[in-house]
Amino acid sequence: MHIETYDQLSEQVATLVAQQIATEPDCCLGLPTGQTPIGTYKLLSTWSREGRLNWSKVRCFALDDYLDVPPALSFHTFLSEHLYQHTNIDAGNIFHPGMTDNYDALIEGQGGLDMTVLGIGGNGHIAFNEPGTQFLSWTHCTWLEDSTRKANQASFGTSRPPQKAVTMGVKTILSSRRIVLMASGEKKKAIVEAAFRGPVSRQVPASYLQAHEGLEVLTDFGFSLTR
Ligand code: GLP
Repeated sequence: MHIETYDQLSEQVATLVAQQIATEPDCCLGLPTGQTPIGTYKLLSTWSREGRLNWSKVRCFALDDYLDVPPALSFHTFLSEHLYQHTNIDAGNIFHPGMTDNYDALIEGQGGLDMTVLGIGGNGHIAFNEPGTQFLSWTHCTWLEDSTRKANQASFGTSRPPQKAVTMGVKTILSSRRIVLMASGEKKKAIVEAAFRGPVSRQVPASYLQAHEGLEVLTDFGFSLTR
């Protein structure tokens, strides 16, 4: 499918997730937050309400979350509101990094991630792996860069966005059997080009994904991994 608009991007990613669930009803999904995946979640929620998707055996893992925020402002709540509450997912199959001291062991115990959907931060972060994050990194707590806090200001109104977060690490994400990175808008074109046309670098954590055999990069600005 040739993708030119945000709606087409959302539909393509939602279709990939729906196909994954149809093929593997008990699959483990890594799920992102932020603005980019909202259209995808809208479609998955609609299809679920229409009974076209069965989440009863699916296991969902949030990529990351803020630390020290009111529950209403957590990514766990974001995913509940944008997705989980519109599906028939079992509450016992919803996981997030703030619920355990060893998220990687929890993921491994569930059989590992089958598909992880990612966005990309303007500074090249994936989940909350900020520039400078080691390749050999697992779930960890991190300070957020000012640019990241600024990018997420809208979610916090006039309050200052959190300074700390907990995130799946680079190795946690790379352990996923499939990765779908989605990016929307000309504003993300330069960082996507840097991540996948430039060198692998700690300064652009998304570039670590170049090593992943099962990576797909979907954008609405004409970027393609193969060209
Ligand atoms: C946040 C999230 C990332 C997300 C990124 C981009 O920092 N931790 O998972 O990919 O921002 O968000 P957006 O899609 O709003 O540009």
